[in-house]
Amino acid sequence: MLLKVSGLSVLYPGTTEGHVLEDVSFSIDEGERVALLGANGAGKSTLLLSLLGILEAHSGRIEIDGVLLEKKSLPLVRSKLGLLFQDPDDQLFMPTVYDDVVFGPQNYAENGGNSPAEAESIAQRADRILEKLEILHLKDRMSHKLSGGEKRLAALASILVMEPRLLLMDEPSAYLDPRARRRLIALLQTLTEAYLITTHDLELVRSLCGRCLLLHKGRLRADGPAKDIINDKKLLDECAL
Ligand SMILES: Nc1ncnc2c1ncn2[C@@H]1O[C@H](COP(=O)(O)OP(=O)(O)O)[C@@H](O)[C@H]1O
Ligand SMILES: [Mg+2]
Repeated sequence: MLLKVSGLSVLYPGTTEGHVLEDVSFSIDEGERVALLGANGAGKSTLLLSLLGILEAHSGRIEIDGVLLEKKSLPLVRSKLGLLFQDPDDQLFMPTVYDDVVFGPQNYAENGGNSPAEAESIAQRADRILEKLEILHLKDRMSHKLSGGEKRLAALASILVMEPRLLLMDEPSAYLDPRARRRLIALLQTLTEAYLITTHDLELVRSLCGRCLLLHKGRLRADGPAKDIINDKKLLDECAL
């Protein structure tokens, strides 16, 4: 089992009541592709941030690849996860696409981490990922001048280069035009990593995810085969979708 979340409750700092997440339990296996559905404010982004230990759990436990999430395991846990932010501008902050892609691995190496693919230099790894995402030609371009679709792929490259065990993506197809969206879906189809995707894009779910989690007001309302959940009009209606 890759991820195991048990009885997770989360409060925002400074608040004492009104759990944003309440008693959420689920698990994700190796190679699984899971959609996280829920209306605005249901707690989807909060759940992703909790998995990274950015928001502290009020109660419950999170285990990733056999490691319990706690203060002392934070760097190890984070090395196993890759979060694609909702807004790529939050992810891309270096002058060029290449600089953004090598930033993570360089930083990791400087801090004494062992690269999982030591035989390959960081530069080679960056090129390989850029090529895989079909954006090698954007390597020397300025990140902030890319189109929305290009930015999304550059941000994805900066995460894949770290070779995460589990990818967390927050509404990856939002704000993309139809062509960029189809291209993103086709590329996500080729990944071998397990992923958890928050989305309102049911076509993306149909194309990529075998399973859905459905959050409603911070509680896990359903967990099952994607086709069952996205075809359950009554359930979606009850969850304001
Ligand atoms: N920084 C914050 N401080 C306090 N409450 C927050 C904060 N961020 C989000 N919330 C609240 O937490 C709930 C869940 O938000 P979020 O996880 O962003 O939902 P979703 O991603 O499903 O739209 C919402 O009610 C939101 O208002
Ligand atoms: Mg959100």
